[in-house]
Amino acid sequence: MYARKAGAAWEILAPAKLNLYLDVLGRRDDGFHELETLMAPVQLYDRLEWRPRRSDCAAEFALQLDPSTVSAGGDVPVNEQNLVWKAAAALGREAGVMPHGVITLTKRIPSQAGLGGGSSDAAAALQLCNAAWGVNYSAGRLASLAAELGSDVPFFLAGRSAVCRGRGELVEPVTGMPRLDVVVAAPRVGISTAAAFKELDAPLVDVPSGRRTNNALSQLINDLLRGARAAAGWRMTNALEAAAASLCPLLRRVGTVFASLPCCAHLLTGSGSAYFAVMPSARQARRAAAWLSSLDLGVVYATATCR
Ligand code: C5P
Repeated sequence: MYARKAGAAWEILAPAKLNLYLDVLGRRDDGFHELETLMAPVQLYDRLEWRPRRSDCAAEFALQLDPSTVSAGGDVPVNEQNLVWKAAAALGREAGVMPHGVITLTKRIPSQAGLGGGSSDAAAALQLCNAAWGVNYSAGRLASLAAELGSDVPFFLAGRSAVCRGRGELVEPVTGMPRLDVVVAAPRVGISTAAAFKELDAPLVDVPSGRRTNNALSQLINDLLRGARAAAGWRMTNALEAAAASLCPLLRRVGTVFASLPCCAHLLTGSGSAYFAVMPSARQARRAAAWLSSLDLGVVYATATCR
């Protein structure tokens, strides 16, 4: 994702993500969990636009929501709590620039869904302000700011499918990933990531020895790279599913409904509550979305992962 100039404004799209594989190796003594996950950006986007401050506006810097955002669900703060604001403040501090201008955030990605919306917005805000303020930091310099903002932010900054380790911030891009047609259902009740990890109650793990090469994940990537979607589907798993289902019992029904789809795989993304299926074609993803939409499981999208 790159910021694009549009007259006096700059704009950028912030994609959602899906976890095609998520293993939790254990709990670390810093309170985070050691992960091994394969994440892919997905074609469902928030949009951020930066404009120079108007002369009648008192604040140097402001964040506002586009009115169409309301349908995305969840409470989206437009103050220092929002990761977009935090990203702008962090870049301003690092670069010695006073945050300025107005960022308008159009949210389409549901909150607390495991789709990475907030983290993606943060990565997008770093790139947007980097361009709009003329800071022009390299991707490497932005990456260290990204890791401080959240575990998934470096992945979105890298902007492509990747294996992510550590607490998620150690990003190894995977090249040559195929397009996957997916259908995603986001229940109206979200799940807090911290609550899902707590519910998992994972044993303590030693960090350096935790970073091992996992055979199941290597095989999944091999299957994907050779286009064997059905074989890949069998290897897609998410270690947070049971924890998420005990926090959001509707997920058990969602899982049962998805099991009746003619899909290659169906699983939770991240810590939920969104659930997705990998479908054999875009047409089947659209048909599944139409059917799922009639079942009141939440907001449903037919979309695709990108590379
Ligand atoms: O890094 P981020 O701010 O997105 O994480 C939110 C919360 O999720 C953390 O405070 C932590 O409780 C939990 N988490 C975790 N292990 C990770 C990532 C997140 O325990 N690898």
